[in-house]
Amino acid sequence: MPISPPARILLGPGPSNVHPRVLRALGTPLIGHLDPAFIELMEETKRLLRKTFMTANPLTLPISATGSAGMEACLVNLLEPGDTAIVGVNGVFGTRMADIVERCGATPVKVEAPWGHIIEPDAVASALRTVPQAKLVAVVHAETSTGAWQPLEDIGRLVRAAGMLLVVDCVTSLAGCPVRVDEWLIDASYSGTQKCLSCPPGLSPLTFGPRAVEALHRRRSTVRSWYLDLTMIERYWGDERVYHHTAPISMNYALLEALRLVDEEGLEVRWARHERHHRALKAGLAAMGLALAAQENHQLWTLNSVGIPDRVDDVAVRKALLAEFGLEIGGGLGPLKGKVWRIGLMGESSTEANVLFVLSALGRVLPRFGYAVEAGAGVAAAARELARTAPQHVS
Ligand SMILES: Cc1ncc(COP(=O)(O)O)c(C=O)c1O
Repeated sequence: MPISPPARILLGPGPSNVHPRVLRALGTPLIGHLDPAFIELMEETKRLLRKTFMTANPLTLPISATGSAGMEACLVNLLEPGDTAIVGVNGVFGTRMADIVERCGATPVKVEAPWGHIIEPDAVASALRTVPQAKLVAVVHAETSTGAWQPLEDIGRLVRAAGMLLVVDCVTSLAGCPVRVDEWLIDASYSGTQKCLSCPPGLSPLTFGPRAVEALHRRRSTVRSWYLDLTMIERYWGDERVYHHTAPISMNYALLEALRLVDEEGLEVRWARHERHHRALKAGLAAMGLALAAQENHQLWTLNSVGIPDRVDDVAVRKALLAEFGLEIGGGLGPLKGKVWRIGLMGESSTEANVLFVLSALGRVLPRFGYAVEAGAGVAAAARELARTAPQHVS
């Protein structure tokens, strides 16, 4: 019996829904990882990844594993035992970066902010003064655990002026909101395929700028991870084509097709789509008395964390949405467990239809769990916002 998973609308923190063209690419016949035809596809992937990251960095490629491997690849390649790294911690993924820094044998110096808030550039400036010996600063652009959207321009300038490297997690932002690697002076960055790129999970796009490449080649010790050692991986993705590990062929097909879809839509149009649907969702939630939990003016378009009303059972609501509507939303993590729902509007999942669907499904389910909402209030408010911001159709 072939597996037949249920149909789902994926509005959680990832994976997002995948375009049929990407699914078809996964089923395309295999070729070898050194086949000239595959090498051509690799070159196109690198070119489109550079375009998506808005960078000219030659060392831009997909790491063969999920987003956490991209995180680990950045840190394990740039840090050596005894180094110090300044890490912004305001959610799960900053916490994970600090953990990895330690596993690299380096010392993390945390710049902390309450979950849902951004890391203030002043706090980074003060850390740069306190630990001038630090080699890098690592921050999360889109904190998926809270919905906070970290501004990077000031931090980029500060870190560059201090002569350190800036490492940025773009897992939940790449292809959903602006990520300008070169303009913002980001030295190393990584993402994941299953968020705004709308591809299955399995690869982690990564980019290293010239200063990061120099630091990599100046290391005194070998990279502590064999699998993620970019000095070897760059020889397979570069001109030499030296075997390192067998590239996951089908996932690379899928990523390339997803990148082509991003390119066909155009980055700016894609960002505007994400912004518009976020604003409509926010308006609809507000009409239902539900508020976003992240700091005002720093709320992500791609991931909306919504405060759960008092006495409403988090898990029971999510179960009802899944069972009755085939709709997945996420729960909170760590200190936000039971306190927020996380509604992702990423890539293929960021549509008008999905905004209206999740609001109407919540409107049907919530009264049963003790939270009264006026029937249709959320949908009506979102529909008004969507009508107000509708893209102009040229006939
Ligand atoms: C901001 C952020 N960084 C890193 C990761 C880790 O990615 P993965 O779960 O694909 O390993 C995630 C996953 O949700 C994320 O949201």
